[in-house]
Amino acid sequence: MKGLTLFDHLEDLDSESKYLVHKAKEATHLSHAPYSKFHVGAALLLEDGSLVMGANQENASYPLCMCAERVALYSAAVQFPGKKIMKLAVVAHKKNHKELSGATACGACRQVLVEYEQRQKSPIELVMMDEGKWMKCPSAASLLPMSFHSSHLLD
Ligand code: THU
Repeated sequence: MKGLTLFDHLEDLDSESKYLVHKAKEATHLSHAPYSKFHVGAALLLEDGSLVMGANQENASYPLCMCAERVALYSAAVQFPGKKIMKLAVVAHKKNHKELSGATACGACRQVLVEYEQRQKSPIELVMMDEGKWMKCPSAASLLPMSFHSSHLLD
């Protein structure tokens, strides 16, 4: 994929990305995931340096569960209106809390991310881990070609 960079070790990432991953790891402790036991944390960086965290919030009514990424995005939108989102990191761990698991932003979160990119007219860099490799993606749009967007709703 165009612009995707892969790293074998977390230490190989730039210091800003490492810091965001560190905060995303912290956010996993705010996860409410008694059903999946898959604890996801997200941390995003705004243009003014502010940091916003998110963690998945599950519910006994399963379809109401909300991903960590969207918790962080919606929180940023209301706590810091108009501030551009520069970068988002997401990590997860399973029940034992020992090793990190891959979490690569589900399709729904990608769709939401893409609309934030369109609203702010700039890409959101994504830092994620999958199959033991760390990756930096230049934008959500690069992960969701042909996404649905507002112009589809126009007459
Ligand atoms: N989940 C996230 O929070 N982010 C992702 O990128 C993938 C999935 C959550 C949703 C649900 O609470 C749990 O992980 C299992 O799918």
